[in-house]
Amino acid sequence: EGTPPSFTPASPALCFHIHGRWRRARAATVHLPHGPLATPVFMPVGTKGTIKGIPTEQLLHEDLSPQIILGNTYHLALQPGTELLEEMGGLHEFMQWPRNLLTDSGGFQMVSLLALAEITEEGVRFQSPVDGTQMLLTPEMSISHQNRIGSDIMMQLDDVVSSVTVDHARFVEATARSIRWLDRCRKAHSRPREQNLFGIIQGGLDTSPGGLRDECLTAMVARDCPGYAIGGLAGGESKEAFWKVVAQCTAALPEGKPRYLMGVGYPLDLVVCTALGVDMYDCVYPTRTARFGVALRDAGVLKLKNKACAGEEKQAIDPSCGCMVCRHYSQAALHRLLKSGALGCQLVTYHNLAYMLGLMRRMRSAIMQGGQAFPRFVVRFLTTHYASKN
Ligand code: GUN
Ligand code: ZN
Repeated sequence: EGTPPSFTPASPALCFHIHGRWRRARAATVHLPHGPLATPVFMPVGTKGTIKGIPTEQLLHEDLSPQIILGNTYHLALQPGTELLEEMGGLHEFMQWPRNLLTDSGGFQMVSLLALAEITEEGVRFQSPVDGTQMLLTPEMSISHQNRIGSDIMMQLDDVVSSVTVDHARFVEATARSIRWLDRCRKAHSRPREQNLFGIIQGGLDTSPGGLRDECLTAMVARDCPGYAIGGLAGGESKEAFWKVVAQCTAALPEGKPRYLMGVGYPLDLVVCTALGVDMYDCVYPTRTARFGVALRDAGVLKLKNKACAGEEKQAIDPSCGCMVCRHYSQAALHRLLKSGALGCQLVTYHNLAYMLGLMRRMRSAIMQGGQAFPRFVVRFLTTHYASKN
């Protein structure tokens, strides 16, 4: 099927195989220790080892059935703790998840969740939310946690600065530090044959030649990681600035390795960034917005709590969706369930995940089809997405 695999000798735990392209967009398979991953892919976020509102058995249902989900080292290290996870044979065994897992390193969650976190060269210092004592997360400790968790893809600890920060010197420091921390993470990694360690490109919004993104790209590509993430985005910058950084990174990252855009998850961004050559995404948006009663569709969001939905006894969220929720529940039924308990949120979460996974499958299939199928898909998506807004 397609071109021969580009085997990376440095990483026997990952093999990347491109099947089709349209300009920079690619449809590929990432072969990982817990099975193949068809890309472009959206990875649902299960912070503490479960996706809020979706039991693992239901996640394996054919509407959803993701080939990978995401967990957070920070949350897992606090609860249930990585020593327990290791004793139980890793997070796969613990949560009865037979497929791939990706873990974020913890620093980003700490800085975004804990206002009191302080970053030094050593690592991220913070107050334990459990007992208030001083704690430190170093690159070595993050990797040791992730080695015990046993995730198929581990992320380096990086120094993340909010993209709307004005202090340029802080970005200079954070970029250089993220490169040094990648080296410490690589040294600490004890299972390179079983787990992949991805580097994270930082550098703020500086896309100038020889600027911070450039510097980070050159240094990290030279490290020959099995894959790379683009970090430091989706923090309140303009779409224009955000897409420009993505375009610069995908142009400079190696063709034969997966590219992961962290924390990005609006449907429009997934379409644009896939066209720019990104392969992997994660975001809490589809599941979080579901808990507010907001359903995702090509034609834009549907706010199920609005009065207008109360009278729609025949109409599904999206009649063309075909997921379990769209086959069995009307907008009016969901409107009522959202008022009366947890089931409404769970059903909208289910639809939103089905929508995101379906959107990625449609893009993959259009890229694989070749010819003008992918640009036609993009045009149709954009016209549908903006048709209902004025
Ligand atoms: N999640 C969203 N953005 C980032 C980032 O820049 N770094 C890490 N580690 N996680 C993220
Ligand atoms: Zn649906």
